[in-house]
Amino acid sequence: MLQTNDVSLIYRNGEGVTYAVKKANVTVNKGEFLGLVGPSGSGKSSLLYLMSGLKDANEGDVTFEGNSYQAMQNGKLIDLRRKRYGFIFQQHFLINYLSVFENIMVGALEQAAPARKRANELIAELGLEKQSNRLPWQLSIGQRQRVAIARALINEPAIVFADEPTAALDQTTGHQVVDLLAQYRGHGSIVFVTHDPEMLSKADRVIRMRDGEIVSEEKQNGAHSREGEIVSEEKRNGSHAREGVMISNEKRNGNR
Ligand SMILES: Nc1ncnc2c1ncn2[C@@H]1O[C@H](COP(=O)(O)OP(=O)(O)O)[C@@H](O)[C@H]1O
Ligand SMILES: [Mg+2]
Repeated sequence: MLQTNDVSLIYRNGEGVTYAVKKANVTVNKGEFLGLVGPSGSGKSSLLYLMSGLKDANEGDVTFEGNSYQAMQNGKLIDLRRKRYGFIFQQHFLINYLSVFENIMVGALEQAAPARKRANELIAELGLEKQSNRLPWQLSIGQRQRVAIARALINEPAIVFADEPTAALDQTTGHQVVDLLAQYRGHGSIVFVTHDPEMLSKADRVIRMRDGEIVSEEKQNGAHSREGEIVSEEKRNGSHAREGVMISNEKRNGNR
């Protein structure tokens, strides 16, 4: 669905050039949970910026659904990001004077009833009902990050890009956030960047980076690694449906 073709991101400094990303080739498949792991400074954020069109590649190109970023007029890329992608960062970037509900609606493409309904569904699914009218400072950091997830999912993006969303959280809260986000798999793809491999136990595939380069790529059992079984896409969607997450019945049936 998304593909990078020998993309590089180069920073020029006094002495010369640094390749933050060097000729990276990554594919994001539809509906998968893709992990991107590596030590600090290995180029994970830079690669995420290239994949999501937040930064232009110095070399190579990125295509989404067959459309090249390079060939897109600037406005088209902004549109693509706004309509088809969702973003979650280490800092939640919530607006201090807006409630949880209003913060989630900030990213909505339209403010009409369906979007408000979706926001309320996300609030319920992410366990934020009691916090719906609160302001960000009245929440725990784990709750704030859940609001950021809801905001990223409000438009049902094709891909959610998450850059170290658990880095400021303790292990338990971090795992809860990953688990909630992982439930969106199947409805959309997840690209999850972290320096902590533990956070990727549920990923379908893990790409490892070092010094701007991809050094390995591994398939995992994904959501079912705990049970140690590999299930078909069909079955997986079924089990997600039972968890009743992230989408309304209406929408889900519509998708089939
Ligand atoms: N704005 C910048 N200017 C110069 N160098 C940068 C800049 N941002 C990142 N870098 C360098 O690019 C490399 C990759 O950084 P980054 O993508 O942030 O890595 P990670 O997210 O894995 O920690 C590092 O060597 C970093 O120092
Ligand atoms: Mg980073």
